Amino acid sequence: MFKQILVPVDGSDYATNAAKKALVIAQKHDSKITLLHVINHSQLFSMGAPQSLPLITDHMIDGAIKGAEKILEDTKEAIGAREIEVETRIEWGTPAQVIINLARNQACDLIVMGSRGLSKMSGLFLGSVSDRVAKVAPCPVMLIKE
Ligand SMILES: Nc1ncnc2c1ncn2[C@@H]1O[C@H](COP(=O)(O)OP(=O)(O)OP(=O)(O)O)[C@@H](O)[C@H]1O
Ligand SMILES: [Mg+2]
Repeated sequence: MFKQILVPVDGSDYATNAAKKALVIAQKHDSKITLLHVINHSQLFSMGAPQSLPLITDHMIDGAIKGAEKILEDTKEAIGAREIEVETRIEWGTPAQVIINLARNQACDLIVMGSRGLSKMSGLFLGSVSDRVAKVAPCPVMLIKE
């Protein structure tokens, strides 16, 4: 039933818990899991460029890719996936849009993600990425609330 599960991760505990839940589903359904991290431009600018200087240097790009690789490796290690095929992917763009497009293009039949992510803003039930994906994704979306 769920052959292709997409798990977008941002390094938060919510997303890691989502990946753990996805693994349980994958073990039941013999699914393939894609762990996806999306690097967005605002992330790049938070890595040291002065706001007044809209330059993206090779150093910033390398830093963003290394950060993304670490998030994906740490998540893969945390879920300890055995016997399940786990692909990792790094993409650039607006997270919600990239997640929705990938789900469509890869014919994913389930997205498992955190209800919230890395933002420290308290009081919100959903983050902006999970809110957008839940509304627009072409497949069922499971939001993990812990
Ligand atoms: N850059 C990203 N790449 C992949 N998945 C992401 C990314 N950002 C968020 N997610 C996914 O979306 C879930 C919800 O995060 P979201 O960013 O919506 O909430 P937030 O960080 O609490 O709030 P906001 O970022 O809107 O201020 C995360 O647990 C993760 O599964
Ligand atoms: Mg966020």
